[in-house]
Amino acid sequence: MGNDYMKAEVKSPHTILDKYTALLEISCRLNSERNFDQLLKLIADEATKHVDAERATIFILDRNKGELWAKVALGVSDTIRFDARLGIAGAVLIAAKPLIVEDAYKSPLFYPSIDSITGFHTRNILSVPLRTPKQDIIGVFQVLNKRAGKFTTEDEHFVQALANQAAIALENAQALTELENRQQELIEENANLRKEVEERFTSKSILGTSSKINDVRTVLDRTAETAVSVLITGENGTGKELSARAVHYTSVRRAKPFVAVNCAALPEPLVESELFGIEKGVATGVERRVGRIESANGGTLFLDEIGDLSLTAQAKLLRVLQEREVEWVGGRKPIPIDIRLIAATNKDLKEEIRQNRFRQDLFFRLNVIHVRMPALREIRTDISLLAAHFLRKYTKEIGREIHGFSQEALKALTTYHWPGNVRELENEVKRAIVLATAKEIQLQDLSENIIEERLITPEATEPGKKSSGEKKSLKDRVTNLEIQMIRDAMTQTENDRRRAAKILGLSHQGLINKLKRYGLED
Ligand SMILES: Nc1ncnc2c1ncn2[C@@H]1O[C@H](COP(=O)(O)OP(=O)(O)OP(=O)(O)O)[C@@H](O)[C@H]1O
Ligand SMILES: [Mg+2]
Repeated sequence: MGNDYMKAEVKSPHTILDKYTALLEISCRLNSERNFDQLLKLIADEATKHVDAERATIFILDRNKGELWAKVALGVSDTIRFDARLGIAGAVLIAAKPLIVEDAYKSPLFYPSIDSITGFHTRNILSVPLRTPKQDIIGVFQVLNKRAGKFTTEDEHFVQALANQAAIALENAQALTELENRQQELIEENANLRKEVEERFTSKSILGTSSKINDVRTVLDRTAETAVSVLITGENGTGKELSARAVHYTSVRRAKPFVAVNCAALPEPLVESELFGIEKGVATGVERRVGRIESANGGTLFLDEIGDLSLTAQAKLLRVLQEREVEWVGGRKPIPIDIRLIAATNKDLKEEIRQNRFRQDLFFRLNVIHVRMPALREIRTDISLLAAHFLRKYTKEIGREIHGFSQEALKALTTYHWPGNVRELENEVKRAIVLATAKEIQLQDLSENIIEERLITPEATEPGKKSSGEKKSLKDRVTNLEIQMIRDAMTQTENDRRRAAKILGLSHQGLINKLKRYGLED
């Protein structure tokens, strides 16, 4: 007999021990359920089962709208929404205390509209607040229609304990859903930005109608579809990087990364780890770092200023290109890579090869297609178009209303020798926009060297044409120009006197003499 009694005790789903064991189990399941709707269903199912009720409903509070909404009224698929102050749920929300209603239709709090929506007949209700550990009330939990008898205090304790667990799980799921929505938004935003970048960097972004620029665009368009290496040469500021991006963003690789590496900015001891990657702990304090080549996998690697890469680094790069795999510094096995290579330089690589500063075999690998960006002084007919483009771009950005250039200013821009090429023109226009006081950019808004060079150009000295600025003798003007050209050549060659002399058509000694005479030795 005693044994039977024990059995009956254990079998009964209503013992306190059983209920709390069930609660623990439910709590575990709640924590592993991440889907909000599934979670609502799980909580409602468990509650009806354990307190022997017909149905359970979870109302979630929408604070912004001041509404309660319920998705799961078991058996109903529609979402129900109503004013958060209404009904028994509203009363529990306001009082923040549990409530048992024995006869719903006799209670003045009862809000019968929900029954008429769901077609369910509510007899009695046990209602508890959904409270988070931080004591925020996020909704109301109700079980409806106890199958036999009335809801008891024991039921109330159980449902409240379940509601406390449910509140945590619901809060987490809600946060997760918000994160997922935000992530989805970010993915879409990223796709839009990518599209914008792709549209911005096509060969159409290389402006100019001169035949030299047309030729550049044609070659770039043709190479875009292939995966061949491209070598882009040209002076500083001629649009080498712009062209490299155009090739990448019109190629089939455009959805993959474009990784630009400035070889001139890589200090010799870091070249290998930067390009190939380095394992953690190779030296004390060294963190694991993916190499730039690997980051470009599937996409395009743009090696800018390749002429500045040391011979050792050139040898290592060549090996990567031949083997099509990179070995991390301190890494155990090589990693296969698939990159398209675009290299750029303002140096004369053939001359560098002659001087034993550049490897010929690497040159041949890079130089499959050669694109030479013309200097701005070679495409003077494009200057006004480019100047107008930068004027539009920066007046908008800076927020000024300037509609164009005075004739004199435009003439000065189109006749200047532009050692810094398109970038110099871009900066010049930007500067003039800031300085200008009229609706048009005037000659005096331009830099001194441009104005002075204008004074000695033939057009400016045409009879009948007045030039602004103070009158100077021809000798002064020539001297000014000479100083300017020497300065430019020195900047361009990073103070390499031999190369500067070559550019200026002077002997080495001749240049040294002039530097002394004009006090330009530093
Ligand atoms: N044909 C062009 N049309 C429009 N913008 C141009 C053109 N050429 C150059 N630019 C602009 O001039 C600036 C310099 O171009 P970019 O950086 O591509 O030159 P670069 O040859 O790489 O210069 P550097 O040798 O100094 O690195 C950029 O702002 C670029 O957008
Ligand atoms: Mg560049």
